[in-house]
Amino acid sequence: MSSRLAWGAGLVTYAADGVALDTWYPAPALGPVPAEAAAPTGTPAPTGLPAPAGPPRPSALPAPTAAGPRPAPAPGPATAPGVHPAPAYTGLPAPSVDAERRVRTEQVVREIDLDVPPADVPDAYLRLHLLSHRLAAPGSMNLDGIFGVLVTVVRTSAGPCAVEGFEQVRAALTVAGRGPVAVWGIDKFPRMTDYVVPAGVRIADASRVRLGAHLAPGTTVMHEGFVNYNAGTLGASMVEGRISQGVIVEAGADIGGGASIMGTLSGGGTQRIRIGARSLVGANAGIGISLGEDCVVEAGTYVTAGAKVTLVGFGDKSGEVVKARDLSGAHGVLFRRHSLTGALEAVRREGAGIRLNPALHTG
Ligand SMILES: CC(C)(COP(=O)(O)OP(=O)(O)OC[C@H]1O[C@@H](n2cnc3c(N)ncnc32)[C@H](O)[C@@H]1OP(=O)(O)O)[C@@H](O)C(=O)NCCC(=O)NCCS
Repeated sequence: MSSRLAWGAGLVTYAADGVALDTWYPAPALGPVPAEAAAPTGTPAPTGLPAPAGPPRPSALPAPTAAGPRPAPAPGPATAPGVHPAPAYTGLPAPSVDAERRVRTEQVVREIDLDVPPADVPDAYLRLHLLSHRLAAPGSMNLDGIFGVLVTVVRTSAGPCAVEGFEQVRAALTVAGRGPVAVWGIDKFPRMTDYVVPAGVRIADASRVRLGAHLAPGTTVMHEGFVNYNAGTLGASMVEGRISQGVIVEAGADIGGGASIMGTLSGGGTQRIRIGARSLVGANAGIGISLGEDCVVEAGTYVTAGAKVTLVGFGDKSGEVVKARDLSGAHGVLFRRHSLTGALEAVRREGAGIRLNPALHTG
C-alpha cells in the first residue's frame, strides 16, 4: 500500500450543472490530512475517497436567459462526486454564489494518494498545485488520465466560467458593471499564476506557464518561453523556449529563444527528456533526447532521437555514426549541423557549459 499522501484545503468552483470547474488550494501540503483540518464529527475525514456516487446533482442555478441580474441561488451541501464538505477553513474565502457568472464556490478538505491516478477535478488540481508550489517534482506523481478528468473552462478576468452559455454570462457580467470581461483562455489547464505565485521567479508573460509547472527559485521565463504542467526547472535557469510536458531542466541550463524540447504528450514521443546542468539549447534549436551536463545544441539545429550523428573528437570512435538516442544523457557534447556538409555532428567539448548572468536570475 502506498503511503505517499498529500492534502489541501481548497475552494471549489461549481458550474450551474454541478460540474466542478476548478479548485484553488492556497497552502497544499504533503502527508495525511491533519486532525484539525478534518471534517467535523459525524463526517468522515476525506481519506480513501469513495468512488463518485451518482450523477452530478441538478443545477441550483437558473437556466441561461437573456442578460440581466438573476436571483442568487442558495449554496447547498457539497455532494459533487469525490468532494467532501469541510469545516470553515482559516484563510479560505467563505462559500459564495455568483449569480452573473452562474457558479458557486464551496470549501473542501481533500486528501489524495499520489500513486494512484487523479479521481476528479479537486484531486487533479491538488496535484497541479503541489507541483507549482514545488512540493513535488515533475514526474514524481501519477497523472494518468488527467486530461479526461479536467474540464474545459473559460478562464476570464471575472473568474472561471462554464463554456456552455458563456456569452449570456459575459452579457450578465457586463450589465452588472463587471465588464468588459477578458478571456485569458479556453482550456483544461489554467495559468499557473492565477493559482500559485512561487517565490524567486520571473515570468514575463503569465499566459506562458500552466498550472502544474515547477519553477525553481532563480528561474526566468521570458515571453517566448513556455512551461507545461508536470515539467519545469530544478534550479536557476533561463527559459526562452518551450519546456514540454514531462521535461525537467536542471540548474544553470539555458533554453534559448524559440527552442523546442520534445515532450511525451503527443507526437509519439516516449522518452522523458532531461536537460542537464549548465547545458544550452540554442535559439530555434530542438532536442528529442536528454542532454547531460555541460552540453550545447547549436542554434537552429534539431536533434531527434533517431537522427544519425557523426562523432567528432571522441578518440578512436571519431568518425563513427550513431543514433542520437545513443548519446542521450551524455555529458560535454556539442550538437551541431556542419555548415558545409549538412551532417549532424556530436562534437566532444571540454569544461563547464554556459554560465547564466546572475543579474537575470534574482527573482
Ligand atoms: C554552436 C556554437 C555554440 C558554436 O559557437 P562557439 O563554440 O563560440 O564556436 P565558434 O563559432 O567560435 O566556432 C569554432 C569553430 O567551429 C566552427 N563552426 C562553428 N559552427 C560550425 C558549424 N555549424 N559547422 C561547421 N563548423 C562550425 C567555426 O567556424 C570555428 O572554426 P575555426 O576553428 O576554424 O575557426 C554557436 O554557434 C551557437 O549556436 N550558440 C548558441 C547560442 C544561442 O543560441 N544562445 C541562446 C540565445 S537566446
